[in-house]
Amino acid sequence: MGCAVSGPNVNPDSAVSEERRSPSLEGAPDLKTEPECGGSEEPKEPFLLSEAQKGLIRASWEVLHKDIARVGVIVFIRLFETHPECKDAFFLFRDVDDLQQLKMSKELQAHGLRVMSFIEKSVGRLDQMDKLEHLAFELGRSHCRYQAPPKYYEYVGAQFIQAVQPILKEDWTPEVEKAWENLFKYLAATMRRGFYAEEKMKASQPLLSRKAGAEATPNRI
Ligand code: HEM
Repeated sequence: MGCAVSGPNVNPDSAVSEERRSPSLEGAPDLKTEPECGGSEEPKEPFLLSEAQKGLIRASWEVLHKDIARVGVIVFIRLFETHPECKDAFFLFRDVDDLQQLKMSKELQAHGLRVMSFIEKSVGRLDQMDKLEHLAFELGRSHCRYQAPPKYYEYVGAQFIQAVQPILKEDWTPEVEKAWENLFKYLAATMRRGFYAEEKMKASQPLLSRKAGAEATPNRI
């Protein structure tokens, strides 16, 4: 599948080979039609959170979750500022140049909330690795259908960290930052596996059923 989002100012994701970014539609033997969390050739990201780091994430989320609507908007506005080509994945935003106008958009607010609700779910599953992995893997699969490519997933974590730092004030420490960084790294890597598993599955399907599949999962925005 070719991804809609790309741009000249973006470094290619160095962790991902060109072949994986644009796999050939031909000659893909041994493909599973129902990929599971382990169904991608992407190596699994180790879950690097210690018990202490999980505690730091939970404690900071207690404060942050009150602000999730605002944080969700800030994260995506900043993502669009630093990587304007990300807007291309959003049917409704791709032609809007005025980010101040976008800030007021109900659709962006709703999208920001959906993303932050996902973070909330992830925080709730820090002790349930299987569930967390499944959640992020499936999200990666849906992002393949949204044509939102993996090279941008980690930027969301970076923008999240920038956005929440001022909310936590002196409670934001290098340890808290490292813990969130590790969580986003894990989520982004697991989403990436899901993305490529979905891409591989699509490539293995006959053209007609691929078209039907794409129509079955339209973007809301
Ligand atoms: C850590 C990174 C990210 C997380 C956790 C995340 C999370 C989410 C969630 C929870 C949804 C709603 C999914 C659903 O209900 O089906 C969503 C939708 C979507 N995301 Fe992401 N996302 C991330 C990164 C990105 C990036 C970088 C882009 C663009 C380049 C993007 C583009 C989209 C699009 C186009 C949709 C569909 C919009 C809609 O129809 O609601 N996402 N994302």
